[in-house]
Amino acid sequence: MSVTVRVPAKVNVQLAVGPARPDGFHDLANVFLAVGLYDEITATPADTLRVTCEGPGSDQVPLDHSNLAARAALALAARYGREPAVHLHIDKDIPVAGGMAGGSADGAGALLACDALWGTGASREELLDICAELGSDVPFSLVGGAALGTGRGERLTELKVGGTFHWVFAMAERGLSTPAVFREFDRLGEGADIPEPAASQAVLDALASGDPGALAVAVSNDLQPAALSLFPELSDTLAAGRAAGALAALVSGSGPTTAFLAGDADGATVIAGVLRASGTCASVRVAEGAVAGATVV
Ligand code: C5P
Repeated sequence: MSVTVRVPAKVNVQLAVGPARPDGFHDLANVFLAVGLYDEITATPADTLRVTCEGPGSDQVPLDHSNLAARAALALAARYGREPAVHLHIDKDIPVAGGMAGGSADGAGALLACDALWGTGASREELLDICAELGSDVPFSLVGGAALGTGRGERLTELKVGGTFHWVFAMAERGLSTPAVFREFDRLGEGADIPEPAASQAVLDALASGDPGALAVAVSNDLQPAALSLFPELSDTLAAGRAAGALAALVSGSGPTTAFLAGDADGATVIAGVLRASGTCASVRVAEGAVAGATVV
């Protein structure tokens, strides 16, 4: 018997970053939108904990206990006093080290899959607690839809979404490390007075109305200058998407994936075609949001 869970990627439609805290993390106002690119995590009983991975970029995915999927199984097993005897197979479609919460998706997916496989019957709150221990973006991978994340991003308030948003994502030739991007944010902001992060009412209203034009003028990402500083070629990708008619062009989370908001599905197809031909990125995908969070299939 095995259990498979499907988990979406995310794009941040607002990422407001505060000053570095004493623990090294940053307080955030992080508006997440789940989009239809998915990893699938299959949990099968085994003698010992084992992780395997297939799909684009899977050669860069660690298969040891540092993998968030393995850490999720270990955390759930420890909490319920059982052996983490499970094989976790990740079928990867979310870009690796791309700023779309691929690792977090695998953590949330493994947690839900092991919970179902072992019949632990953990409550939603317990699962969300474990997710928050695993990483700042992991609770959102479980919940999906759209949500405001505060604290280090792990404290979620679900948000209303009034329509479907059409996105194009351009994947880069290499990844960016999230801690490195936050360190660059700190370096670029040295000596500056960085305000406490706050959710933008314009972003929340635009999501609620489902109006892509309103969302396009409201989106923002405080990590974008840091990502561009570490990966200057991303400016060319952003420019190519804008020239193709994207309503908004921004770095997704800590990058290096770039995200382009289209007016409708046809617009997304056009932008994707132009980006593919532009030679400014490794690959291009179209995806809609909001979509549901981690789901047993
Ligand atoms: O929580 P997570 O493990 O995903 O965070 C990865 C890294 O990103 C942290 O070690 C930290 O360097 C940075 N980070 C941060 N502030 C946050 C979230 C992440 O500085 N709110």
